[in-house]
Amino acid sequence: MYRGLIEAYRDRLPVTDKTPVITLHEGNTPLVPAPVLSARTGADVYLKVEGANPTGSFKDRGMTMAVSKAVEEGAKAIICASTGNTSASAAAYAARAGVTCAVLVPQGKIALGKLAQALVHGAKLLQVSGNFDDCLALASKLSQDFPVSLVNSVNIFRLHGQKTASFEIVEALGDAPDIHCLPVGNAGNISAYWMGYQEDKEAGNSTRLPRMFGFQASGAAPIVTGKVVEEPSTIATAIRIGNPASWTKALDARDASGGLISAVTDREILSAYRLLAREVGVFVELGSAASVAGLLQQAADGKIPAGSTVVCTVTGHGLKDPEWAISTAPSPTTIQNDVLIAARELGLA
Ligand code: F0G
Repeated sequence: MYRGLIEAYRDRLPVTDKTPVITLHEGNTPLVPAPVLSARTGADVYLKVEGANPTGSFKDRGMTMAVSKAVEEGAKAIICASTGNTSASAAAYAARAGVTCAVLVPQGKIALGKLAQALVHGAKLLQVSGNFDDCLALASKLSQDFPVSLVNSVNIFRLHGQKTASFEIVEALGDAPDIHCLPVGNAGNISAYWMGYQEDKEAGNSTRLPRMFGFQASGAAPIVTGKVVEEPSTIATAIRIGNPASWTKALDARDASGGLISAVTDREILSAYRLLAREVGVFVELGSAASVAGLLQQAADGKIPAGSTVVCTVTGHGLKDPEWAISTAPSPTTIQNDVLIAARELGLA
């Protein structure tokens, strides 16, 4: 039986027999072929569907490690800043561990589903009048001055948990892909995947390293422009970040892999979001669609060699943001309980 990623990769993670394993059986997510994207790009494209994790995002991979290690070290409380998914995940794992969870989110800038998750799992949630970067600075300060453990991706255990996605991809494909596309916000995940791919190659599990392609939203693209963005802005609230904590690590992943970090517009993100939902059958949140938007952009620029194997991580489930989903789709028609009317409305008669 699958028992979560700590048990699956115990010998490749910084845990010991004394580490209490706090798990919701995260990881082991599907790697789904995307023929529609393959046809559009000339590559062999797969989606790593991280919305299939217990709280609906890749954050669970990092959180099982961060919370297990915090509990091992005696923490009674954890804290995070979040654009939404980290808070949902932290709240769930804290509930599982029986510790208190504090969450700082930018007011009015997190998707409804994520807010619901943090609240229903019993987190103490503060909406801060500021952006994610302000929330992270506040959470870091609180963790320095008070007895509360910081579980943002500046916590190295988070990255160790998240690197296991690379292990799963190498196992599924039999080797590393040629190119790996990811959305980039605080830049922890691209750094974690790169760590995972490097470890896999050193261990002899793969023969090559992928080129890491990261994508930021154009209104929140500090790594692309090389400058902190004081007021980041994008419809993809998950990656609305102006000063990524793992900036240097992301540059290393880009440069050492011969990859790139580029910007995608909100329009490109939205178009990839719709394509994924309507033609690939995978419902992701807007931030997640940045990886696919980036792939399509790079393919249009001739940057994706024909026949290469490409994995796009889609980081979070579309149901996280029901308000956005409903506002962008056509409104449903209401009818009487009548077969003929129904048939006519459905275009069957
Ligand atoms: N995709 C989603 C759905 C996210 O929630 C995030 C980050 C990212 C991509 C970017 O990953 O930060 O490792 O570069 N969300 C964080 C949060 C910031 O608070 O939930 P990253």
